[in-house]
Amino acid sequence: MEAGIAVTNIGWSVRRGRPADAAQLLNILDVVGAEAWYIANDGASWSVSDQRRIIEGLVDHAQCIFVADYLGAVVGSLEMVRGALAKNQHSANLAMAILPSYRGRGIGTRLMEEAHAWAAQVGIEKICLSVFATNQAAIRLYQKMGYQLEGTRIGQYRIQGRQVDELFMAYFLPG
Ligand SMILES: CC(C)(COP(=O)(O)OP(=O)(O)OC[C@H]1O[C@@H](n2cnc3c(N)ncnc32)[C@H](O)[C@@H]1OP(=O)(O)O)[C@@H](O)C(=O)NCCC(=O)NCCS
Repeated sequence: MEAGIAVTNIGWSVRRGRPADAAQLLNILDVVGAEAWYIANDGASWSVSDQRRIIEGLVDHAQCIFVADYLGAVVGSLEMVRGALAKNQHSANLAMAILPSYRGRGIGTRLMEEAHAWAAQVGIEKICLSVFATNQAAIRLYQKMGYQLEGTRIGQYRIQGRQVDELFMAYFLPG
């Protein structure tokens, strides 16, 4: 899926995830998980049919999945899940990942813009995420999108023998 791809800055678009994207979404988790330094998962621990059921079962005001589509291939994704309780349904958690060859082309920014628009539409007030303190590209993206540091869990992860802090960041939607 990754090797030898000549990627241009055109040809990609962002859209809602569909059940047919399930295998490609798991591929992203596997590829980015294997890089070790960006997401907590080492890879997908559930099946394509499980993922398909997750997408089929999405309830629009509660969860969303956006994908970056490059000439028909799913190369990035963003998922947001809203709090399920009366006390936290105004907030949502966000996670995202893009395949290595497609980074640095504005796809992450575009995925977040779509996610923020969805959040505003369904009445979410606060978006939360966590990021490894070593992940400078992601931290810069989140800062650019208006996220601020809320807290740090020191040494929360151990990656390839090194202790890594977990940063909590959040964005309050305007209004
Ligand atoms: C983090 C990630 C989602 C960013 O997506 P992206 O498509 O590469 O980001 P964009 O091209 O939209 O860039 C957005 C901003 O991020 C920052 N950025 C992107 N790549 C960067 C890099 N290599 N170094 C430093 N900053 C970087 C810049 O501030 C950039 O804004 P600018 O272009 O206006 O300067 C992507 O790199 C990725 O999937 N990484 C692996 C998985 C991951 O880290 N997921 C997040 C876990 S919390």
